[in-house]
Amino acid sequence: MFTTQSSPGSPIIRCGMIGFGMIFDDTYRPVFELRGAEPLYSPATGPVQVRLAAVASRTGVRGARYLTSGYGQRQPFTNYSGSDATRQLLASDIHVVCVATPDDRHFTAARDALIAQKHVLIEKPSVLSLAELDELSRLATANGVLAKVVYHKLADPDHKKLRTLYQDGVLQHVNNGYCSLLEPKSISGGQFAEWITGRNPATYVAVHYLKLIDFTFGPNWALSRISATGQRGLVGPADGPTWDSVQLQVVYLHPDAREAAFDIHTSWVTPNNFPGYVEQEVQFRFDNAVWCAHQRKRGVELTVENRTPGELKNTPNYHYNGTFLEPWGERSQRGYGIEVIERFFQEVANVEFGGPPDTRSERLAQMRALTYNDIMADRNCVAIVQSLEAILCRAVAGAPGCVVKVNTPPGGLVLYEPGNATPFILYEGRV
Ligand SMILES: NC(=O)c1ccc[n+]([C@@H]2O[C@H](COP(=O)([O-])OP(=O)(O)OC[C@H]3O[C@@H](n4cnc5c(N)ncnc54)[C@H](O)[C@@H]3O)[C@@H](O)[C@H]2O)c1
Repeated sequence: MFTTQSSPGSPIIRCGMIGFGMIFDDTYRPVFELRGAEPLYSPATGPVQVRLAAVASRTGVRGARYLTSGYGQRQPFTNYSGSDATRQLLASDIHVVCVATPDDRHFTAARDALIAQKHVLIEKPSVLSLAELDELSRLATANGVLAKVVYHKLADPDHKKLRTLYQDGVLQHVNNGYCSLLEPKSISGGQFAEWITGRNPATYVAVHYLKLIDFTFGPNWALSRISATGQRGLVGPADGPTWDSVQLQVVYLHPDAREAAFDIHTSWVTPNNFPGYVEQEVQFRFDNAVWCAHQRKRGVELTVENRTPGELKNTPNYHYNGTFLEPWGERSQRGYGIEVIERFFQEVANVEFGGPPDTRSERLAQMRALTYNDIMADRNCVAIVQSLEAILCRAVAGAPGCVVKVNTPPGGLVLYEPGNATPFILYEGRV
């Protein structure tokens, strides 16, 4: 599959981006700019370059702007646009596809890329239903490629420490917790305005915390039930399908039959001049401990006349992503948001170049067994997202207060509506 080489012994991973918006600029662009010039390296693979080779988007405007920009390390790529862009991109000479379209357009792009035998990385949330997830898992297996999801919060050093302490038994038996992630009005009113009708902020951002909870405190527990409510009236009409904010509750069952409940609050109507731009906070309570964390308030507080809180943030999170003048004189852009994308390319490099071709399937199996990002390990998150979307949809139709139960006799995901004796099966198989 990987035949293109820049020079003998120095393989290249050629990548196609489907979707070329804000998240490309934040996290993918720095990876391509750095790794085109300075290869990834591991003892097993040797140096491996990563190239942005093709882009597919609706209008092609941002791609064209980037191609003519003054970015130093920018690589040349083919900029496809319009309704046939994805098909053209998949027909070009690429090995890997990154899907960064709006969340309700991930499935078709990822499906077509897997059918074309490309390794795939999908922005969170991977897909919106378990049926779609089943199909992507099947295609990844059938075509012998990786299908992975970006969950950068798992690479945040604070979250790595949280999981380490839990897995080592220092934090014992999680009982409950809350997470909140509040985005500014500019997201709902500007950046996402084109596709926001009928959408909600929870699908888009609660998944960060759903995965954090599921990965950190699992896998020895069972998802039990999901409920949700929210508010409308700012982004769209108060009786319409577009949500301003959502409050989601997820309940798990430990093997000892004690329950754990998590409340996740999300919004995309916070004032634009909120000091940190995005507000993110968690608290988890254990039998013997409490963990409280705040994404922004890690110690830096900055005020610059005429530049904060707009261009520069008052309480910035430089751990996620920041541009730096390194002590040794170089300029860099780094952080866990970038690291997690590089990690995916290392996994691809490991499969393709980490040993002889006849052991490729073993390396593929090892990389697919990584539950932090493999699509097969995304079942609980997708189950919650599918339930959430169904609950909000029923609320719009005049039936608020629904609850979805997981893996009960009627089915894998079963929605119960207040006052209606007949349950609705969202997914028949086991979650
Ligand atoms: N990891 C994170 O923290 C993070 C942050 C922001 C966004 N995201 C995710 O990234 C994805 C994109 O978000 P964004 O903020 O970059 O959005 P955006 O609106 O800035 O960009 C979306 C891009 O998708 C393209 N697009 C839309 N429909 C398409 C189609 N059918 N075929 C090809 N291209 C299409 C648009 O042209 C645009 O280039 C979403 O899934 C979002 O959840 C992740």
